[in-house]
Amino acid sequence: CAAAAPSVLSRADVITDHPFNNITDTIFQKIGVNLHQQPGHPIGIIKGAIHDYFDSHHPTTFTKFDDLAPIVAATANFDEVLVPADHVSRSPNDTYYVAPETVLRCHTSAHQAEILRQGERAFLVTGDVYRRDSIDATHYPVFHQMEGVRVFGPQDWQASGMEGAQYAEVELKRTLEGLAQHLFGEVEMRWIDAYFPFTEPSFELEIFFKGQWLEVLGCGVMQQQILDKNLGPGQKAWAFGLGLERLAMVLFDIPDIRLFWTSDQRFLGQFKAGNMTTKFKSYSKYPPCYKDVAFWISDAFTENNLCEVVRDIAGDLAEEVKLIDDFTHPKTGRTSHCYRIAYRSMERSLTDDEVNALQEEVRSTVATKLNVELR
Ligand code: PHE
Repeated sequence: CAAAAPSVLSRADVITDHPFNNITDTIFQKIGVNLHQQPGHPIGIIKGAIHDYFDSHHPTTFTKFDDLAPIVAATANFDEVLVPADHVSRSPNDTYYVAPETVLRCHTSAHQAEILRQGERAFLVTGDVYRRDSIDATHYPVFHQMEGVRVFGPQDWQASGMEGAQYAEVELKRTLEGLAQHLFGEVEMRWIDAYFPFTEPSFELEIFFKGQWLEVLGCGVMQQQILDKNLGPGQKAWAFGLGLERLAMVLFDIPDIRLFWTSDQRFLGQFKAGNMTTKFKSYSKYPPCYKDVAFWISDAFTENNLCEVVRDIAGDLAEEVKLIDDFTHPKTGRTSHCYRIAYRSMERSLTDDEVNALQEEVRSTVATKLNVELR
């Protein structure tokens, strides 16, 4: 049985002095918050609406998991879902490593194999996932995903006259089109061919919403190898994965992903369990403050590493980090980057002193930790 997340995780379990460890305090503090378990939080509301859809519109009973610990074996996160050995997502620039064999899951697909081994044939997994990334209104290093898996046996597809794989694909598309309608109403939809290591064929579902095509989820027919190995031969399955923040931002008009983490009642008080029709009203927008930092980079420099430094110092006061100048000196061949950092609180006005202090700390930490030369 999959381990439930311990209610209190010690810092020393997550932030170690192992050279591979790249987890900051900012990230550690998010573990165990479990926004998806709060029924009145926008993330919990979306989870509830998807559960409702599967409970009321799908003939199968889906087992629901929402307390699987986010610290998983690297093998579960990658190998068991056939992520190639050289895939970028394995890099410590993209994924948070506790140690070389242990990561903060970067997708809920990390639980596919273990739950299949428990013999489950239809399940939904919701949880917090972690990715090192850039900083802007739609990217945050922690977000929430829901995974769905449905397994079929020959008795399911034989009556239909279809092959198993085709049957799974048809049922997948019908189920997810129904889900999109349940969430968004009567919208135009289209299927786009995609690639995921764990499904073949793979698709993305897009809907036409407020004048543009919007990606809603990724999915596909599960790679046979995963099923054969973890459940047994002769079956077919589909799987999908979707991001709850993305859906909540679109459905509730939430303009900035940092808002999900606020404890401000002016935000939280606008949402109610079970209510999918809320449109968020900004309580007031405080002014941003822009600061630039320029430096000569080294080969090892990455934007994700810079953003990690900024987040750890400024936390949710960092709204955006944007490359505004990229210049290679014609004679020395050295490259200089200039980044513009937008500082803004969602709750109050920041003082000049406060922002200057943050920026000074960013500058000095960048110089010492990122091996760059400030200009
Ligand atoms: N794990 C994929 C992601 O994070 C989503 C996905 C899940 C795609 C299941 C296909 C099947 O992008």
